[in-house]
Amino acid sequence: MKKKIKLFDPIIGNEEETAILKTLHSNFWASGQGIGQVLKFEKNFTRFVNSNDSVAVNSGSSALNLALSLLDLKGKEVILPSLTFVSTAHAIIQNGGKPVFVEVDTRTNNLDPIEIESHITTNTALILPVHFGGLPCDLNSILKICKKNNLPLIEDAAHAAGSEYKGKKIGTHGQFVCFSFHPVKNLAMPTGGLISINHKNHKNFKKILKARRWCGIIDRDDTNYDVKDVGWNYYMNEFSATIGNIQLKKLNKLNKIRKKTAKIYSQEIELESMMPFDDHCSYHFFWIRVKSRQKFRKLMNGFGIETGTHYKPVHSMTLFNQKNQLPNTELIGKEIVTIPTHPGLSQDDIDFVIKKINFINSSNI
Ligand SMILES: Cc1ncc(COP(=O)(O)O)c(C=O)c1O
Repeated sequence: MKKKIKLFDPIIGNEEETAILKTLHSNFWASGQGIGQVLKFEKNFTRFVNSNDSVAVNSGSSALNLALSLLDLKGKEVILPSLTFVSTAHAIIQNGGKPVFVEVDTRTNNLDPIEIESHITTNTALILPVHFGGLPCDLNSILKICKKNNLPLIEDAAHAAGSEYKGKKIGTHGQFVCFSFHPVKNLAMPTGGLISINHKNHKNFKKILKARRWCGIIDRDDTNYDVKDVGWNYYMNEFSATIGNIQLKKLNKLNKIRKKTAKIYSQEIELESMMPFDDHCSYHFFWIRVKSRQKFRKLMNGFGIETGTHYKPVHSMTLFNQKNQLPNTELIGKEIVTIPTHPGLSQDDIDFVIKKINFINSSNI
């Protein structure tokens, strides 16, 4: 019987196995100070994207919460897409702000710059775009809007490790760029995240972020330390960083394989609406749109192909309760399906996925 084709699958080899055993037997598994493999990962990631600095944390959600804590968002509005994971919006609320959900461009599913402009008010404090599936947003237009309105840019780059925009890696455009290294992500760890810093005061921001990721602890000298501010227990563990250091070395190569798959999908899938091909995208996932999603996903599952729904629009969740506000996003939310792009797919798997999608489509199911 044909093996099930998984939607996401981390690619690990002997190198990860050996390194994990080494960390296991070192008996040094975690440290709030962020020394050892964590420090190494921060240095490696900073070099990889070419940013000013990096602070590793234990998830993309923590990265967003901490990055947004650097601004005063109390009572202020933050512009974001609704087509995202709920953590993007949670980080705004966790920091006292108000999420303002804005429409996406239906070609890319990224924030539409025209819609951003029309939602800016005197109370807007931040623009928080998401690089959907790893496809870089129109950062040129967004940065122009930020400059014109004197607004900072924080990016949710949870899908975009290794993506590029205008010759620079994602992680170097906004003041703070937040990554996720959840096991389904294209840079996979057991759990992890990172804030990439691009700011002339990066040393100071790093100091604040490092304190906030470890319970507010500062000025540590042997067993002595001080706490002047509230903090969280958000530090990355050594196992995650050990795997991350190896995954990072392979990231460009693995993203290249994802891109090859995405190119074939974009050429051979016979659907009207799907993710565009862009050589600068990480292709954390590849989305298509279908009319009868439930039936489509059930049929694909029957063929042994796992698919996903990314995402149910956040504004429609009970917490936000803003249904019938964003027609494009709501329609995408009903039709979107994510299909496998992970580098473990064989050519046969890719052909099989395409064949089954085209079959379902041509059968008018
Ligand atoms: C767009 C987006 N932002 C934030 C997150 C949160 O990342 P994590 O799961 O590492 O907390 C995710 C994770 O799925 C995501 O997809």
